[in-house]
Amino acid sequence: MNILLTGSGGREHALAWKITQSPSTDKLFIAPGNGGTGKVGINVPISATDFPALGKFCLENQVKMVVVGPEAPLVEGIYDYFRDTPALAEIPVVGPSKSGARLEGSKDFAKAFMLRHNIPTAKYQSITLSEIEKGRAFLETLKPPYVLKADGLAAGKGVLIIDDLEEARTQLAAMLGGSFGEAGETVVIEEFMSGIECSVFVLTDGKSYKILPEAKDYKRIGEGDKGPNTGGMGAVSPVPFADEKFMQKVEQKIVIPTIEGLKQENIDYKGFIFLGLINCGGEPFVIEYNCRMGDPETEAVMLRIKSDFVDLLQGVADGTLSEKPLLADERYAATVMLVSGGYPGDYAKGKEITGVEQDSAQTTVFHAGTEIRDGKLLTAGGRVIAVSSYGGSIDEALNRSLAAAEKINFEGKYYRRDIGFDLKPYVD
Ligand code: AMP
Ligand code: GLY
Repeated sequence: MNILLTGSGGREHALAWKITQSPSTDKLFIAPGNGGTGKVGINVPISATDFPALGKFCLENQVKMVVVGPEAPLVEGIYDYFRDTPALAEIPVVGPSKSGARLEGSKDFAKAFMLRHNIPTAKYQSITLSEIEKGRAFLETLKPPYVLKADGLAAGKGVLIIDDLEEARTQLAAMLGGSFGEAGETVVIEEFMSGIECSVFVLTDGKSYKILPEAKDYKRIGEGDKGPNTGGMGAVSPVPFADEKFMQKVEQKIVIPTIEGLKQENIDYKGFIFLGLINCGGEPFVIEYNCRMGDPETEAVMLRIKSDFVDLLQGVADGTLSEKPLLADERYAATVMLVSGGYPGDYAKGKEITGVEQDSAQTTVFHAGTEIRDGKLLTAGGRVIAVSSYGGSIDEALNRSLAAAEKINFEGKYYRRDIGFDLKPYVD
């Protein structure tokens, strides 16, 4: 079977790496891909949101399944475009409909969905400009810190956590006044929850589901979780505190009501559900839903899936997921992200990268923001390379990834050496 994967990050290289291991894959195309995906499949210079061009490509190249990496095409309705275009309707898209992608595309929708289905999450209120006084009054009922979220997609930057009430009132007015553009026309004000976070990934065909290996990501740029937020500086899977008891609560209180809620509301959802969870004293709460896999979590999670991944995706496409086995590797996987100097602020691109040819039985080097130009591998983004390794412990996996990271070079290279540091107290 020929498969088209859309996207261009480290997540997509990890998905491509896993998809090409399946005996069912003939050709894998990646649109647009990066400097690494071109080595496991065939890069196609089409944007992940150019639906007519993707559709035409699928017809010309006998593509039998489309797998969507990032959220933007889903929120813009790639699933609906294929379903509603007669020539493309037979080509399944793994990813939710536009309606389902609102779980990520609208925080207001996601919160109301959780409330309707009794799914544990922080107390909240959604506010528009005409309701600003109601928003201010709600802030006064909360204890600091205050959490303000732009309703729409804001490239991971739409959440403010503010210690001071006066500042929270000012920021609420600024968001409603357009500081986050259209994404902030509605603002979700939330109660702050304290605990430790993890990411749980669910694959669903709309009827049944599989819970993929969970992971924890590290969003801050600096060691010890200091400094500004990034797209993600590393990940670990499994997560020691997500033990059987915790995961049973996740399944009963969150996964099942989410799948049942989607069914009850007739929301067409065949794809990934990413649960951003917080563990508050042993109880899981949903911080956010995403309608795709996480990045860099995917770079760790793919190492731990032993089953034929295309077989699972096929189960999603044809509604037979319940019949498909999902086997996880027992070992740890740790991912270290190498980023451009200056990221998440301004950074240079076009720096030559060396030392990436290090794949072994233990370590895989995934590309994120890279491109090949005139035969040279160059940096093309803030997050450049994700190195993932297996290990019998978090430290063993991490040390393998760090050893490989050291041998990869480009001007301005930076990475965190402490991925997984906060999980040590939970390891028996
Ligand atoms: P989100 O984009 O909704 O995932 O929020 C970004 C980050 O803000 C999360 O990963 C959490 O670290 C933090 N956060 C969001 N909502 C809350 C909350 N209600 N309580 C505590 N932390 C939160
Ligand atoms: N690692 C968090 C995300 O993919 O949104």
